[in-house]
Amino acid sequence: MKILVTGGAGYIGSHTCLELLNAGYEVVVLDNLYNSCEESLKRVEKLTGKKISFYEVDLLDVAGMEKLFEAEKPEAVIHFAGLKAVGESCKVPLKYFTNNLSGTINLLNVMEKYNVKKLVFSSSATVYGVQESPAYTEEMKTSSTAVSSPYGRTKLMIEDMLKDICAADPSWNVALLRYFNPIGAHESGEIGEDPQGIPNNLVPYVAKVAIGELDHINVFGDDYETPDGTCIRDYLHVVDLAIGHEKAIVKLNEEPGLVIYNLGTGKGYSVLDVIKSFEDACGKELPKVMAPRRAGDLPEYFSVPAKAEKELGWKAERGIKEMCEDTWRWQSKNPKGYRK
Ligand code: NAD
Ligand code: UD1
Repeated sequence: MKILVTGGAGYIGSHTCLELLNAGYEVVVLDNLYNSCEESLKRVEKLTGKKISFYEVDLLDVAGMEKLFEAEKPEAVIHFAGLKAVGESCKVPLKYFTNNLSGTINLLNVMEKYNVKKLVFSSSATVYGVQESPAYTEEMKTSSTAVSSPYGRTKLMIEDMLKDICAADPSWNVALLRYFNPIGAHESGEIGEDPQGIPNNLVPYVAKVAIGELDHINVFGDDYETPDGTCIRDYLHVVDLAIGHEKAIVKLNEEPGLVIYNLGTGKGYSVLDVIKSFEDACGKELPKVMAPRRAGDLPEYFSVPAKAEKELGWKAERGIKEMCEDTWRWQSKNPKGYRK
């Protein structure tokens, strides 16, 4: 089966391409390389010994996408391509709406034109917003007023659009995958997360402190109502997450209509737990400073991943130790990421 992976050169996309190739799928990648480089795909080819057809095409370029569909005839799409920086999306929301919403609408129109109606969409736990319980289940109501950023709202709007499309036309099959906090890297240390500039997210920041590129870690708030005062999140290994996409494709082949799954471990770790685990992985203590809370952060949330286990046969296998060790292997082998 041939799968088109949009955003396939990026962090989660490259790991997913690797798992798809290892599982015997053919892989075509569309990426405009806005936040990635082709080297990630070259490394995936080297690790798997298999080829990827790569198209440097933007989601806003409909003619370019049509050419790809004509030439490659993909049978399903995994849609990662999008902008994802929460803070930036608050400053330039229109850029996010244009890229993520218009880009997705273009993709869906091209899919419909070529009668490709299987889609896996990268959604996020951010669509839950604020809930009464921190243990998030797929049945919980989502609403755009509870979502804290324009980035998050693009995810929710796309989810809602896909629900309407599936309701109107039962020949569409769509999996909405709500990721919790993906971290880690492939165990080879050859592919991983390669943020440009100062990272916004915790683990890439900690990794840059560990290689000496940044001075110290800022712990955003130690006065939350949690056991050690710092925020709790459900971190999951990117390889487990990638495998979840392959399982979702298997599910779509059963033609289930629209399905929604949380992808997380179900376990929460605090900011200080993660830093401690990273210190164990890199073998040194890391300088850290207690800083004020970051606006928009919730004290605690984690997934209830039971539905994905029951219906996809998917369960996160890798723990926080492997997540930190694999991140450290990638970061120490590639201090400048993919750039020489
Ligand atoms: P990433 O930035 O590494 O990958 C996204 C890829 O999409 C990049 O290679 C980028 O160049 C490409 N892209 C962006 N806009 C494009 C466009 N208009 N046309 C073609 N290509 C375009 O990000 P990631 O961490 O791998 O995330 C992948 C997806 O998962 C995103 O949609 C993101 O919102 C979602 N997600 C990520 C996380 C996370 O923590 N990383 C959590 C929840 C959801
Ligand atoms: C963030 C986004 C979420 C997005 C996810 C993945 C917000 C509010 N949420 O999740 O929408 O899907 O990234 O891209 O931005 N922390 C520090 N110091 C740092 C960085 C982070 O203490 O330098 C803390 C944060 O306060 C938070 C935890 O570490 O408590 C995790 O932060 P982060 O990695 O940014 O992920 P989320 O905020 O959970």
